[in-house]
Amino acid sequence: MNENRQSDPGSDVEAFVARLEALFESNGAAEYLGEPVTMADHMLQGAAVAEKSGLPATVIVAALLHDIGHLESPRRTFSMDDSHDRVHEDAGAYFLWPYLPAVVVDCVRLQVAVKRYLCATRPDYLRCLSDASIYSLQLQGGPMGEDGVAVFAREPNLEAILQVRYLDDSGKRQDMRTPPVSHFLPLVSHLAELHMRSVQDAVRE
Ligand SMILES: [Fe+2]
Repeated sequence: MNENRQSDPGSDVEAFVARLEALFESNGAAEYLGEPVTMADHMLQGAAVAEKSGLPATVIVAALLHDIGHLESPRRTFSMDDSHDRVHEDAGAYFLWPYLPAVVVDCVRLQVAVKRYLCATRPDYLRCLSDASIYSLQLQGGPMGEDGVAVFAREPNLEAILQVRYLDDSGKRQDMRTPPVSHFLPLVSHLAELHMRSVQDAVRE
């Protein structure tokens, strides 16, 4: 943690939220990754469904930012011609962890693992995946093995991780209108401020 962060979490949060807004307006956000919606629309749809369903703020924010690794690091952008996994979930989690609580970071970091978990534990789950998601599943190791399932089932934030995974799968609709990213940024800012202040307080104690 740098000195600036210890003295003023507010300015770090402001810079973080400005960066998010810029990413949602970047060229990468307008790309289609084998789905019928842009990257920005995909994430906004998940967040909009979460908000409408009355899900917790952490789940709304995780849905909004779950694929931010694609945008934050252009080399992470998926293509249907890929022959290897680009681990965008790691890039996203690494970008978000200084600013947001562990439950949000876990939803982002484990979005691929939970897909592999659901494919192994729910035979009907595979049928709800898009073609691009089925293709990437092959690059990501396919359905989880028995040992992996037993370990993953004990994830402390499993409920939220599952919710965000389902929101991810549902946010691929050509016909869905959503609020702009600016609608959600005050919630991101609020969560980030709470988190960074609690980290700062813990360091002081
Ligand atoms: Fe996604």
